Amino acid sequence: MNGERDTHTISFASLGELSDILADSDEVRGITAEEAAELDDDAIVCWCNNVTAGEIRAVISDGTANSLESVQRCTRATGGCGKCLGTVRAVVSCALHAE
Ligand code: FES
Repeated sequence: MNGERDTHTISFASLGELSDILADSDEVRGITAEEAAELDDDAIVCWCNNVTAGEIRAVISDGTANSLESVQRCTRATGGCGKCLGTVRAVVSCALHAE
């Protein structure tokens, strides 16, 4: 390869498809709303970025975030392997409905 790096480009469409695949997988299906409501504030919900249920509830209750996407930006939850997506989604949904 005469010193050139082999690079790959992932389009936003590919990332969207990947997100859909992950969301449908058993590993990221997550927990129920009832289970999310029962999580203690110090319960870790994203292990890659060490995000707790309480941090997610806090950014929603203080108005910093008002959607899954804004929680992801604020806390970095789901920003690693993505396996916590279902659990994070449940905690966010529960917290938004508590407002
Ligand atoms: S556990 Fe949340 S991104 Fe890996």
